[in-house]
Amino acid sequence: MRFWSTAERIRPWASGKSLGKRPGSNRAAFFSPAETLLLEIHNIYKHFGGIHAVEDASFTIEQGSITGLIGPNGAGKTTLFNVIAGLYPADSGRVLFGGQDITGFAPHDLFAKGVLRTFQIAHEFSSLSVRENLMVVPGSQLGERLLDTWLRPARVKAEEITIGQRADEVIDFLQLNPVATELAGNLSGGQKKLLELGRTMMAEPKIVFLDEVGAGVNRTLLRTIGDSILRLNREQGYTFCMIEHDMDFISRLCDPVIVMASGSVLAKGTAQEVMNNEAVIEAYLGTGRKHARERVT
Ligand SMILES: Nc1ncnc2c1ncn2[C@@H]1O[C@H](COP(=O)(O)OP(=O)(O)O)[C@@H](O)[C@H]1O
Ligand SMILES: [Mg+2]
Repeated sequence: MRFWSTAERIRPWASGKSLGKRPGSNRAAFFSPAETLLLEIHNIYKHFGGIHAVEDASFTIEQGSITGLIGPNGAGKTTLFNVIAGLYPADSGRVLFGGQDITGFAPHDLFAKGVLRTFQIAHEFSSLSVRENLMVVPGSQLGERLLDTWLRPARVKAEEITIGQRADEVIDFLQLNPVATELAGNLSGGQKKLLELGRTMMAEPKIVFLDEVGAGVNRTLLRTIGDSILRLNREQGYTFCMIEHDMDFISRLCDPVIVMASGSVLAKGTAQEVMNNEAVIEAYLGTGRKHARERVT
């Protein structure tokens, strides 16, 4: 499997590349059909005391896909994300990325590989502006290397300018210009989600995990977030795996859609297929939700 070189991945813009099409976005040119598996989840188990949160979950994610992960509350979706992202150790099972075993890798090692999970803007970053939040993404800051700061101040300055330009491109891309100098703490819920997505863009990810990016976001911003995800996927080849409840949103963006229930995978198919799947409908109804059927049909 061909991945971008480290230099390209960490600072593609430093070599004059902008947010335009990047290497790898033309999948057909780089990946033969047999090489398109990006992530493989094999038989993951994770329990908390007596709760079997994830039980024998297995699925694969194709390079260049936007894979949806749905399922009733408590199905184990977030726990599985946390296992993949290195926040929880799995009890057993394996995670492969580009064929390499990354099970149990720490978040910073996954970050270096381009496997990113978005996180809420940490409290201490709420007093930084949107643009500053983008500029301080770890790995995008050569100037933080002390030796460089002493020995090569001119280079550090140049790097800072480049990172600033990159931040501005991300701001443009996500249409965050009106709030670029606003403190992150003052953003609306949807704008914060866009900023979280922007922070992953600073790190040039290969796969981004989004956990309920649409939760509590108004319709207009949800559309902007959806459009941004689609463009990042189509124009720049990002692969996404997203947990979401809003089936309109899922249907518009995701193919395939994986359904989890009781810790394992129940179904995989197009949004339409899984919404018509009897076992899936049963799983939602089985949670006793009043409007379960409407959520999946
Ligand atoms: N840190 C934790 N400690 C104990 N139980 C947990 C923890 N995280 C999740 N669980 C439990 O694991 C199950 C799966 O939760 P979760 O992965 O959050 O599901 P989902 O994201 O699909 O709603 C639930 O029963 C939940 O209460
Ligand atoms: Mg969850």
